Amino acid sequence: MASRTPVLQGKIAIVTGGAQGLGAAVAAELDSEGALVVVADLNGDAAQATAESLSRGESAVCDVRDDAAVAKLVEDVVSRHGTLDIMVANAGIATITPFTEMDFDTWRSVLAVNLDGVFSTVRYAGRAMAASGGGSIITMASITGFAGSPLIAHYAAAKAGVISLTKTAAVELRGKGVRVNAICPGFIGTEMVLDRKAEFEQALGVDDFGAVIAQAQGRMGEVGDVAPLAAFLASERSRFSNGSTFVVDGGMTASLV
Ligand SMILES: NC(=O)c1ccc[n+]([C@@H]2O[C@H](COP(=O)([O-])OP(=O)(O)OC[C@H]3O[C@@H](n4cnc5c(N)ncnc54)[C@H](O)[C@@H]3O)[C@@H](O)[C@H]2O)c1
Repeated sequence: MASRTPVLQGKIAIVTGGAQGLGAAVAAELDSEGALVVVADLNGDAAQATAESLSRGESAVCDVRDDAAVAKLVEDVVSRHGTLDIMVANAGIATITPFTEMDFDTWRSVLAVNLDGVFSTVRYAGRAMAASGGGSIITMASITGFAGSPLIAHYAAAKAGVISLTKTAAVELRGKGVRVNAICPGFIGTEMVLDRKAEFEQALGVDDFGAVIAQAQGRMGEVGDVAPLAAFLASERSRFSNGSTFVVDGGMTASLV
Protein backbone atom coordinates (compact mmCIF):
# COMPACT_ATOMS: atom_id res chain seq x y z
CA MET A 1 0.00 0.00 0.00
CA ALA A 2 1.36 3.48 -0.90
CA SER A 3 2.23 5.55 2.15
CA ARG A 4 0.43 8.85 2.69
CA THR A 5 2.40 12.08 2.17
CA PRO A 6 2.65 13.92 5.52
CA VAL A 7 0.30 16.91 5.36
CA LEU A 8 2.79 19.38 6.90
CA GLN A 9 5.90 18.41 4.95
CA GLY A 10 8.39 21.31 4.93
CA LYS A 11 6.27 23.58 7.14
CA ILE A 12 7.82 25.62 9.97
CA ALA A 13 5.89 25.64 13.24
CA ILE A 14 6.15 27.14 16.72
CA VAL A 15 4.29 25.69 19.72
CA THR A 16 4.31 27.90 22.82
CA GLY A 17 4.17 26.03 26.12
CA GLY A 18 5.33 23.08 24.05
CA ALA A 19 7.55 21.43 26.67
CA GLN A 20 4.86 19.21 28.21
CA GLY A 21 1.19 18.29 28.25
CA LEU A 22 -1.00 19.33 25.34
CA GLY A 23 1.74 21.45 23.77
CA ALA A 24 4.22 18.55 23.68
CA ALA A 25 1.56 16.28 22.16
CA VAL A 26 0.75 18.89 19.51
CA ALA A 27 4.47 19.32 18.78
CA ALA A 28 4.81 15.54 18.29
CA GLU A 29 1.76 15.45 16.02
CA LEU A 30 3.01 18.33 13.82
CA ASP A 31 6.42 16.65 13.70
CA SER A 32 4.88 13.33 12.65
CA GLU A 33 3.16 15.18 9.79
CA GLY A 34 6.49 16.54 8.52
CA ALA A 35 6.76 19.99 10.12
CA LEU A 36 9.89 21.38 11.74
CA VAL A 37 8.69 22.33 15.21
CA VAL A 38 10.17 24.96 17.50
CA VAL A 39 9.20 24.04 21.06
CA ALA A 40 9.01 27.36 22.92
CA ASP A 41 8.55 27.36 26.67
CA LEU A 42 9.33 29.14 29.91
CA ASN A 43 11.10 25.95 30.96
CA GLY A 44 14.12 25.77 28.66
CA ASP A 45 15.42 22.37 29.80
CA ALA A 46 12.04 20.69 29.36
CA ALA A 47 11.59 22.41 25.98
CA GLN A 48 14.97 21.09 24.87
CA ALA A 49 14.13 17.55 25.99
CA THR A 50 10.82 17.65 24.09
CA ALA A 51 12.52 19.10 21.00
CA GLU A 52 15.13 16.30 21.13
CA SER A 53 12.32 13.71 21.11
CA LEU A 54 11.16 15.04 17.73
CA SER A 55 12.66 14.20 14.37
CA ARG A 56 13.11 17.88 13.42
CA GLY A 57 12.71 19.72 16.72
CA GLU A 58 14.28 22.92 17.96
CA SER A 59 13.78 24.60 21.32
CA ALA A 60 13.57 28.19 22.50
CA VAL A 61 13.16 29.77 25.90
CA CYS A 62 10.25 32.18 25.77
CA ASP A 63 8.00 33.66 28.42
CA VAL A 64 4.81 34.64 26.59
CA ARG A 65 4.12 37.32 29.24
CA ASP A 66 7.09 39.20 27.76
CA ASP A 67 5.87 40.88 24.55
CA ALA A 68 9.43 41.59 23.35
CA ALA A 69 10.45 37.97 23.92
CA VAL A 70 7.55 36.74 21.77
CA ALA A 71 8.52 39.23 19.04
CA LYS A 72 12.10 37.90 19.17
CA LEU A 73 10.94 34.28 19.07
CA VAL A 74 9.03 34.88 15.83
CA GLU A 75 11.79 37.05 14.35
CA ASP A 76 14.47 34.43 15.09
CA VAL A 77 12.46 31.60 13.54
CA VAL A 78 11.71 33.63 10.41
CA SER A 79 15.34 34.67 10.03
CA ARG A 80 16.59 31.08 10.55
CA HIS A 81 14.02 29.31 8.36
CA GLY A 82 12.79 32.05 6.01
CA THR A 83 9.15 31.69 7.06
CA LEU A 84 6.67 30.82 9.79
CA ASP A 85 3.75 28.67 8.61
CA ILE A 86 2.13 27.46 11.83
CA MET A 87 1.81 29.03 15.27
CA VAL A 88 0.14 27.20 18.14
CA ALA A 89 -0.58 29.66 20.98
CA ASN A 90 -0.80 27.02 23.68
CA ALA A 91 1.07 28.29 26.78
CA GLY A 92 -1.24 28.56 29.75
CA ILE A 93 -1.50 28.28 33.52
CA ALA A 94 -4.28 27.69 36.05
CA THR A 95 -4.81 28.28 39.75
CA ILE A 96 -7.83 27.46 41.88
CA THR A 97 -9.57 30.12 43.98
CA PRO A 98 -13.23 30.95 44.61
CA PHE A 99 -14.07 34.13 42.71
CA THR A 100 -14.98 36.17 45.80
CA GLU A 101 -11.65 35.31 47.45
CA MET A 102 -9.50 35.93 44.39
CA ASP A 103 -7.10 38.83 44.88
CA PHE A 104 -6.21 41.16 42.04
CA ASP A 105 -2.67 39.80 41.64
CA THR A 106 -3.97 36.25 41.23
CA TRP A 107 -6.48 37.45 38.63
CA ARG A 108 -3.77 39.37 36.74
CA SER A 109 -1.21 36.53 36.88
CA VAL A 110 -3.46 34.18 34.92
CA LEU A 111 -4.67 36.86 32.49
CA ALA A 112 -1.02 37.77 31.81
CA VAL A 113 -0.20 34.32 30.46
CA ASN A 114 -3.53 33.08 29.14
CA LEU A 115 -4.78 36.24 27.42
CA ASP A 116 -1.98 38.82 27.13
CA GLY A 117 0.44 36.05 26.10
CA VAL A 118 -1.94 34.84 23.40
CA PHE A 119 -2.39 38.44 22.18
CA SER A 120 1.38 38.82 21.69
CA THR A 121 1.73 35.37 20.13
CA VAL A 122 -1.12 35.77 17.64
CA ARG A 123 -0.15 39.34 16.80
CA TYR A 124 3.51 38.66 15.97
CA ALA A 125 2.72 35.40 14.18
CA GLY A 126 -0.06 37.13 12.25
CA ARG A 127 2.25 39.93 11.17
CA ALA A 128 4.97 37.54 10.00
CA MET A 129 2.54 35.29 8.16
CA ALA A 130 0.72 38.20 6.52
CA ALA A 131 4.07 39.48 5.25
CA SER A 132 5.03 36.11 3.79
CA GLY A 133 1.74 35.17 2.14
CA GLY A 134 -0.12 33.15 4.75
CA GLY A 135 -0.20 30.56 7.47
CA SER A 136 -2.29 28.94 10.17
CA ILE A 137 -2.60 30.11 13.77
CA ILE A 138 -4.21 27.87 16.38
CA THR A 139 -5.13 29.10 19.83
CA MET A 140 -5.59 26.67 22.71
CA ALA A 141 -8.76 28.03 24.29
CA SER A 142 -11.09 25.89 26.45
CA ILE A 143 -14.74 25.02 26.98
CA THR A 144 -14.42 27.17 30.11
CA GLY A 145 -14.61 30.11 27.71
CA PHE A 146 -18.28 29.23 27.06
CA ALA A 147 -19.70 28.50 30.51
CA GLY A 148 -19.50 29.38 34.18
CA SER A 149 -16.42 27.65 35.56
CA PRO A 150 -16.27 27.48 39.36
CA LEU A 151 -12.91 28.26 41.04
CA ILE A 152 -11.20 29.42 37.83
CA ALA A 153 -12.88 32.76 37.04
CA HIS A 154 -9.60 34.27 35.80
CA TYR A 155 -8.83 31.26 33.60
CA ALA A 156 -12.34 31.12 32.11
CA ALA A 157 -12.43 34.87 31.45
CA ALA A 158 -9.07 34.63 29.70
CA LYS A 159 -10.28 31.72 27.54
CA ALA A 160 -13.45 33.64 26.58
CA GLY A 161 -11.09 36.47 25.57
CA VAL A 162 -8.98 34.06 23.54
CA ILE A 163 -12.06 32.86 21.65
CA SER A 164 -13.03 36.46 20.88
CA LEU A 165 -9.48 37.41 19.85
CA THR A 166 -9.30 34.34 17.60
CA LYS A 167 -12.39 35.46 15.68
CA THR A 168 -11.25 39.06 15.30
CA ALA A 169 -7.76 38.03 14.22
CA ALA A 170 -9.30 35.63 11.68
CA VAL A 171 -11.44 38.36 10.18
CA GLU A 172 -8.63 40.94 10.06
CA LEU A 173 -6.13 38.50 8.55
CA ARG A 174 -8.27 36.54 6.11
CA GLY A 175 -7.35 38.80 3.21
CA LYS A 176 -3.70 37.93 3.82
CA GLY A 177 -4.05 34.14 3.66
CA VAL A 178 -3.77 33.69 7.43
CA ARG A 179 -6.36 31.50 9.17
CA VAL A 180 -6.91 31.62 12.94
CA ASN A 181 -8.89 28.91 14.76
CA ALA A 182 -9.40 27.93 18.38
CA ILE A 183 -9.38 24.50 19.96
CA CYS A 184 -11.58 24.20 23.04
CA PRO A 185 -10.72 21.07 25.01
CA GLY A 186 -12.70 19.74 27.95
CA PHE A 187 -10.75 18.32 30.91
CA ILE A 188 -7.56 16.64 29.74
CA GLY A 189 -5.34 14.65 32.08
CA THR A 190 -2.21 16.80 32.00
CA GLU A 191 -0.27 18.15 34.99
CA MET A 192 -2.45 21.26 34.89
CA VAL A 193 -5.48 19.16 35.86
CA LEU A 194 -4.06 16.09 37.61
CA ASP A 195 -1.79 18.10 39.95
CA ARG A 196 -4.86 20.02 41.17
CA LYS A 197 -7.12 17.01 41.76
CA ALA A 198 -6.96 17.30 45.56
CA GLU A 199 -7.50 21.08 45.45
CA PHE A 200 -10.57 20.65 43.20
CA GLU A 201 -11.95 17.91 45.48
CA GLN A 202 -11.56 20.09 48.55
CA ALA A 203 -12.95 23.25 46.97
CA LEU A 204 -15.89 21.48 45.32
CA GLY A 205 -16.57 19.23 48.34
CA VAL A 206 -16.40 16.00 46.32
CA ASP A 207 -14.54 12.73 47.04
CA ASP A 208 -13.35 11.91 43.56
CA PHE A 209 -12.72 14.63 40.98
CA GLY A 210 -12.08 11.96 38.34
CA ALA A 211 -15.61 10.59 38.86
CA VAL A 212 -17.10 14.10 38.50
CA ILE A 213 -15.26 14.53 35.21
CA ALA A 214 -16.21 11.03 34.02
CA GLN A 215 -19.86 11.79 34.65
CA ALA A 216 -19.64 15.02 32.63
CA GLN A 217 -17.50 13.91 29.68
CA GLY A 218 -17.35 10.09 29.83
CA ARG A 219 -13.74 9.93 30.99
CA MET A 220 -10.73 12.12 31.56
CA GLY A 221 -9.49 13.34 28.17
CA GLU A 222 -6.06 12.42 26.85
CA VAL A 223 -3.63 14.64 24.95
CA GLY A 224 -4.02 12.30 21.98
CA ASP A 225 -7.72 13.20 21.82
CA VAL A 226 -6.76 16.78 20.97
CA ALA A 227 -3.40 16.82 19.16
CA PRO A 228 -4.58 15.42 15.77
CA LEU A 229 -7.05 18.29 15.49
CA ALA A 230 -4.16 20.76 15.72
CA ALA A 231 -2.42 19.05 12.81
CA PHE A 232 -5.65 19.20 10.80
CA LEU A 233 -6.13 22.91 11.54
CA ALA A 234 -2.48 23.58 10.69
CA SER A 235 -2.85 21.94 7.29
CA GLU A 236 -4.56 22.96 4.08
CA ARG A 237 -7.11 20.20 4.71
CA SER A 238 -8.90 22.68 6.96
CA ARG A 239 -8.62 25.49 4.40
CA PHE A 240 -12.30 26.54 4.68
CA SER A 241 -12.22 26.78 8.50
CA ASN A 242 -11.45 30.25 9.82
CA GLY A 243 -12.33 32.02 13.06
CA SER A 244 -13.94 28.82 14.30
CA THR A 245 -13.97 27.13 17.70
CA PHE A 246 -13.48 23.37 17.75
CA VAL A 247 -14.77 21.66 20.88
CA VAL A 248 -13.11 18.41 22.03
CA ASP A 249 -14.84 17.53 25.30
CA GLY A 250 -16.41 14.07 25.12
CA GLY A 251 -19.85 15.73 24.83
CA MET A 252 -19.61 17.73 28.08
CA THR A 253 -20.94 21.00 26.66
CA ALA A 254 -23.60 19.17 24.64
CA SER A 255 -25.37 18.01 27.79
CA LEU A 256 -27.55 19.76 30.37
CA VAL A 257 -27.16 16.92 32.90
N1 LIG B 1 -5.50 20.24 30.54
C1 LIG B 1 -6.72 20.65 30.27
O1 LIG B 1 -7.72 20.09 30.76
C2 LIG B 1 -6.94 21.81 29.36
C3 LIG B 1 -8.24 22.05 28.90
C4 LIG B 1 -8.48 23.12 28.07
C5 LIG B 1 -7.44 23.94 27.67
N2 LIG B 1 -6.19 23.70 28.14
C6 LIG B 1 -5.14 24.62 27.71
O2 LIG B 1 -4.13 23.92 27.03
C7 LIG B 1 -2.89 24.61 27.19
C8 LIG B 1 -1.84 23.63 27.69
O3 LIG B 1 -2.25 23.14 28.96
P1 LIG B 1 -1.71 21.77 29.59
O4 LIG B 1 -2.87 21.12 30.20
O5 LIG B 1 -0.85 21.05 28.63
O6 LIG B 1 -0.82 22.40 30.80
P2 LIG B 1 0.60 22.02 31.37
O7 LIG B 1 0.68 22.72 32.67
O8 LIG B 1 0.83 20.56 31.33
O9 LIG B 1 1.62 22.69 30.32
C9 LIG B 1 1.69 24.08 30.16
C10 LIG B 1 3.03 24.44 29.53
O10 LIG B 1 3.05 25.87 29.37
C11 LIG B 1 4.30 26.36 29.84
N3 LIG B 1 4.14 27.75 30.30
C12 LIG B 1 3.50 28.21 31.41
N4 LIG B 1 3.61 29.53 31.49
C13 LIG B 1 4.32 29.93 30.41
C14 LIG B 1 4.77 31.19 29.96
N5 LIG B 1 4.52 32.32 30.65
N6 LIG B 1 5.45 31.25 28.78
C15 LIG B 1 5.72 30.12 28.10
N7 LIG B 1 5.36 28.89 28.49
C16 LIG B 1 4.66 28.81 29.64
C17 LIG B 1 4.68 25.42 30.98
O11 LIG B 1 6.07 25.48 31.27
C18 LIG B 1 4.24 24.09 30.41
O12 LIG B 1 5.24 23.49 29.62
C19 LIG B 1 -3.16 25.75 28.16
O13 LIG B 1 -3.42 26.95 27.44
C20 LIG B 1 -4.42 25.31 28.86
O14 LIG B 1 -5.16 26.38 29.38
C21 LIG B 1 -5.90 22.66 28.96
